[in-house]
Amino acid sequence: MLPIKLKVKKFPLKEREMTMRIAISPGSFDPITNGHLDLIERAIKIFDKIIVAVAKNPRKKTLFTLEERMYMLEESLKDIDNIEIDAFDGLLVNFARSKEAYFIVRGLRVISDFEFEFQMALMNRKLAKDIETVFLMTSRRYSYLSSSMVKEVASLGGCISDLVPKVVESELKRKFRQIAEYQEV
Ligand code: PNS
Repeated sequence: MLPIKLKVKKFPLKEREMTMRIAISPGSFDPITNGHLDLIERAIKIFDKIIVAVAKNPRKKTLFTLEERMYMLEESLKDIDNIEIDAFDGLLVNFARSKEAYFIVRGLRVISDFEFEFQMALMNRKLAKDIETVFLMTSRRYSYLSSSMVKEVASLGGCISDLVPKVVESELKRKFRQIAEYQEV
């Protein structure tokens, strides 16, 4: 049988297409939950590298310090290849460009996420047309999960072992013990 010759049109690759596909996964991560973990594990199948970018000063007041949030991320993500964890201040798109990352990956849990995520994606596009936001649907089993809900449940002594990595569970216990001791003084 004659070998079939496929006609493949060759386009010269632009410089950026030849480089790695790097995506930023930004957030407050106060703290990382199994929902974040699931998103990052799925995103790394699409991109060559994920930079988990922790907002130094997010809009909301955080329970954990930047160092604590980064420590929990490092522990939770240590078994996944091609992940970098970094902190950023200022505009996300500036940080992305400094890392040569042209994708922002965000999770969408429920309809109520959509409005904020849509606004943020459009604002980021207005600021940087070369950076694309990519949304991944959160797995159904984590669709109700949020860092704030986990903190609330943990603060009231509820079980969160299925909702967060082990390190986060113990850090939450430590944090709320510390707060309780401080309040007793
Ligand atoms: O986990 P969060 O709190 O939903 O993350 C929000 C975050 C940190 C990704 C977002 O507030 C952000 O990108 N902040 C950086 C400031 C910025 O670039 N603002 C312009 C786009 S809204």
